[in-house]
Amino acid sequence: MQMLEINSKRQLNGSLKIHGAKNSVLPILCATVLVNGVSVIHKCPYLSDVEVTLNILKYLGARVYRSGETVVVDSRNISRSNILEQYMSELRSSIIFLGALASRTGEACLFLPGGCEIGLRPIDLHLKGLKSLGYNVFTNGHDVCAVRENPQSAEIVLPFPSVGATENIILASVFNKGKTTVINAAREPEIADLASFLNKAGAKIYGASTPTITIEGVDSLHSVEHTVIPDRILASTMISACAACSGKIELSDVDVSHLLPTKAVFEEMGCSFKTLKSSIIVKAPKRPNRVRFIETMAYPGFPTDSQAPVMAALTVANGTSVIKENIFENRFRHAEQLNLFGADITVNDKFAIVNGVSQLHNADAKCTDLRGGAAVVIAALTADGKSRIRDIHHIDRGYEKIENQLSQLGADIKRI
Ligand code: UD1
Repeated sequence: MQMLEINSKRQLNGSLKIHGAKNSVLPILCATVLVNGVSVIHKCPYLSDVEVTLNILKYLGARVYRSGETVVVDSRNISRSNILEQYMSELRSSIIFLGALASRTGEACLFLPGGCEIGLRPIDLHLKGLKSLGYNVFTNGHDVCAVRENPQSAEIVLPFPSVGATENIILASVFNKGKTTVINAAREPEIADLASFLNKAGAKIYGASTPTITIEGVDSLHSVEHTVIPDRILASTMISACAACSGKIELSDVDVSHLLPTKAVFEEMGCSFKTLKSSIIVKAPKRPNRVRFIETMAYPGFPTDSQAPVMAALTVANGTSVIKENIFENRFRHAEQLNLFGADITVNDKFAIVNGVSQLHNADAKCTDLRGGAAVVIAALTADGKSRIRDIHHIDRGYEKIENQLSQLGADIKRI
């Protein structure tokens, strides 16, 4: 069993290149299913979620090659239209394959993704969207299936700007004749990146990154080359680590505009920023200030994915911070682990009250989920003494060897 071993508090100083965004590369890899040709995708990070997605593509019949951070997917011979339990249970976001595969082959059956560590994660909005586009959507007990029956364009109003539902609807409507409109669409930068990939392949998608996205059906998609946007959640995790430990770090290959929803919070914590064209220098105070109130929201609000790492930094803040989690009902599981380090966090339903303490102590703790795992690592970085973190496979889903990333910033951390 692999663990992370982290030694006592030290300032972070150094620079790190930010890898491609997990939340972008996964839907883009799903979208390669629609391409009748070859997709060359640059800045594909080495993440276990990416590897599972590439294995799904191979299972479906695509040829997949990797050379460093570039992945080539030749989708011309896709022959299968189902995805097995072993893949679906490993990667919940693989539900995005439903729209892509149904669009490509006319029918798709995916093993039903269950709930996950951070909440129930329903898919009703995905399925309603596909039904509006003329797919017959049904379950046979263990699979969810979408079969193209009366393909049609539609006007789909989302009651909540769901990222996954917006992606599935885009993928399912690329070939539908006429004009499909998604109203109250998600505005996350990863949606714009998916649309950018598809448009380079010949799709006609307008308005991505606004609340109204329009998709004009095209007959086919051709070979395409694309570079994935930088991972804004990785950047905010590293800034959280710096805020917790103090110091000065430089993050390169970032899109500064994507960091705006978190930047204001870090500034309230006392961090100062110098932004260059595609890099950012962060200087953290000796001890972070508390943040009166943070609530997670759809983009451009404060991201749910940054909640746990920021909470870890606030455990050592001067004063009490209140965090409200609006997106997922079970996304405070890391709080219990942070308290093992001497943090003082009380969770009540959607609220977490974080009373800052002056110093954390070492602990042996576990990762509860991907971002919660990063939070536990941050707590260990600020703590006195040697800590060990287990269940780190959660972290490997979204961070490319986090121990190397943090070592580059001066942390004493290794995988054992
Ligand atoms: C969410 C995040 C995304 C993040 C990803 C991984 C938001 C809005 N989305 O995307 O930024 O990168 O997790 O952590 O912050 N919902 C339904 N029915 C559906 C789909 C969603 O009720 O069919 C609800 C969910 O229960 C949840 C909310 O909508 O409360 C957000 O869901 P959605 O954006 O779809 O989640 P992800 O796509 O997983």
